[in-house]
Amino acid sequence: MLSWDEEVKPTTPSATHGDMPAAPVQTQPQTQPQPALAVAADAPLQAKAAPVIAPVSHSRVNAADKRIINAKTDVNQLVPFKYKWAWEKYLATCANHWMPQEVNMTRDIALWKDPNGLTEDERRIVKRNLGFFVTADSLAANNIVLGTYRHITAPECRQFLLRQAFEEAIHTHAYQYIVESLGLDEAEIFNAYNEVASIREKDQFLIPFIEAISDPHFHTGTFETDQTLLKSLIVFACLMEGLFFYVGFTQILALGRQNKMTGAAEQYQYILRDESMHCNFGIDLINQLKLENPQLWTNEFKAEIKDLFQKAVELEYKYAEDTMPRGVLGMNASMFKGYLRYIANRRATQIGLEQLFPNEENPFPWMSEMIDLKKERNFFETRVIEYQSGGALSWD
Ligand SMILES: [Fe+2]
Ligand SMILES: [Fe+2]
Repeated sequence: MLSWDEEVKPTTPSATHGDMPAAPVQTQPQTQPQPALAVAADAPLQAKAAPVIAPVSHSRVNAADKRIINAKTDVNQLVPFKYKWAWEKYLATCANHWMPQEVNMTRDIALWKDPNGLTEDERRIVKRNLGFFVTADSLAANNIVLGTYRHITAPECRQFLLRQAFEEAIHTHAYQYIVESLGLDEAEIFNAYNEVASIREKDQFLIPFIEAISDPHFHTGTFETDQTLLKSLIVFACLMEGLFFYVGFTQILALGRQNKMTGAAEQYQYILRDESMHCNFGIDLINQLKLENPQLWTNEFKAEIKDLFQKAVELEYKYAEDTMPRGVLGMNASMFKGYLRYIANRRATQIGLEQLFPNEENPFPWMSEMIDLKKERNFFETRVIEYQSGGALSWD
């Protein structure tokens, strides 16, 4: 049985790359408390923004001078490489390209239309799931394009973020494609993040962290703003992509394992594979940023991050209860409590924090297998065509 660690190792260079700490534990003396996000975003800032287009310089880029944030090197020059782990992840994501319309949805459509095809609880899971995800990946894309990308000064990481932003578009496309295929009420599904409390609360938790770094007046370069960016990266990679997505993924993949909604399950399996890569890239980015800026990792900051982890687990558990008020598919909400704690532990230790919920076991070990498409690429056997490489495309 694969563990999460085993799943990420082949494509995660952190364990072997010289730039990466296995578990950074730099603890700095306590400094000023981190101001509230709204204050940080609105505060007068003397620091200069990361250069969107670097000024012409006659000095050539030295890889050793590159930095994750606040670099003075030319952001337009991808090479010489310093952060090869980011470049390798970029190549890996490109090698895993897929498109939603390649997945055959015929069986899902027939099952959904059959009055006896699914129970009411199963239908509720599908609609709640899509209600969260149809807008979640737009939030993710906005966070990258309007926020994170501007502040990261390592060109290798920017390259990954560009690919990631496109993948978020593909995910939104996939969810829309499922909604359209099943003939669901689009207004109901796309407005769920306004109208369904358990979904709205998750987004309300996330949005301040996206807004803080998307504010055009926000720039890194001070202790406070660098911490704000680091916090936003942690919330995005560890709690949004790394935690908030997993109840939803598990539920749809559980349907697929029972030979129901196999087209949707296959779409979710590809998305899960992508998100696993996004999460691992984000964790590498966080750890490298910490390594280069150890003064940011204060005890106060760590305590604040732990509180955010706790809050995120609570919110996702409420979502699990709302989506499955009764036991269904051999799962119940309380099993998700253990699963969320297990994942939260994984995310915490990946960024150098202690486990928040010691000794939690994974109640869904089959989820690890679902991520590993190299082993079983087409688990649900619905995909009708393999992705055509560029060389096979006709341009006339
Ligand atoms: Fe996504
Ligand atoms: Fe993502």
